[in-house]
Amino acid sequence: MLRRPRRNRVTQSMRDLVEENSLSTKDLIAPLFVIDGKNQKIAIDSMPGQFRFSIDNLLKEIFELDKIGIKCISLFPAVNDSLKDKLATKSYDKDFFYQTAIKEIKNKFPHILVMTDVAMDPYSSDGHDGIVCEKTGKILNDQTLEILGKMAVTQANSGSDIVGPSDMMDGRVRHIRMALDQNGLNETAIMSYTAKYASAYYGPFRDALDSAPKSGDKKTYQMNPSNRLEAIRELKLDEIEGADIVMVKPGLPYLDIIRDIKNSTVLPVAAYNVSGEYAMIKAAAANGWLDNDSVILETLTSFKRAGCDMILTYFAKEAAILIS
Ligand code: PBG
Repeated sequence: MLRRPRRNRVTQSMRDLVEENSLSTKDLIAPLFVIDGKNQKIAIDSMPGQFRFSIDNLLKEIFELDKIGIKCISLFPAVNDSLKDKLATKSYDKDFFYQTAIKEIKNKFPHILVMTDVAMDPYSSDGHDGIVCEKTGKILNDQTLEILGKMAVTQANSGSDIVGPSDMMDGRVRHIRMALDQNGLNETAIMSYTAKYASAYYGPFRDALDSAPKSGDKKTYQMNPSNRLEAIRELKLDEIEGADIVMVKPGLPYLDIIRDIKNSTVLPVAAYNVSGEYAMIKAAAANGWLDNDSVILETLTSFKRAGCDMILTYFAKEAAILIS
């Protein structure tokens, strides 16, 4: 036989030699949840192995991640209900614990990249990513931009290296870029949640933050899971508006979108392997139905194959240990 594809699979060394895509610890971004207080490490039921950390314990976790080669974390605050309001005021309070956390991380680990979340929902009494109009219940896009701009500037002033608008308001990348630049923060990067779908896979994350919408859903701002071309439209806008990195979210059910975006841009592409994707694998592994370690590596490699330069994943720590 002239052509035998199996020749390239005969030994591990041969397979390694012809390998097209591989996962590196450098590609991994670890999402972490921070809470106010001291000496807290609270398990998140729907995300086994993930915790809400008070700042002291968060620093210990980052020390561990640093040791195994993870150099970027994405930080989310779980805010006490009594501190939430309609305008998410705490999101741009420079003395709030989220800002303290950023400062302490950068102080202790200057080389660790801190990515921060720009959206109202963790601080909003409505549980929405934008301002909810009292009369109509609609999301007020342009008024929300003002808050997002202040939030991004506050985070960047605290030391954030990358701000990540996860809100899906129109025009937010441009607004945030201009706000940052006006405040002399021209080195702060924007990783835009470019194609963020209205997904049921965010369930466990909303448990972790207690941030589910109090009424309605997020379908007027997050994208319809049926749409593919719309992701390219969002991409083109984010490019013009000044995004430095573009992201697709969720990950696994949207690998086709990751590939579309990779083929349509020269910007670095990220994907968010979200909480529900994590929960599914953890649940199956806990039942003995799937092999945890192999499935993690296969899953994360599929992101690389689809075209990702980097992956936000709750598996970051486990994967880094597995591939070291
Ligand atoms: C909201 C936000 C969400 C996630 C990150 N930022 C949830 C949502 O849009 O309701 C989800 C992440 C995950 O599920 O892991 N700004």
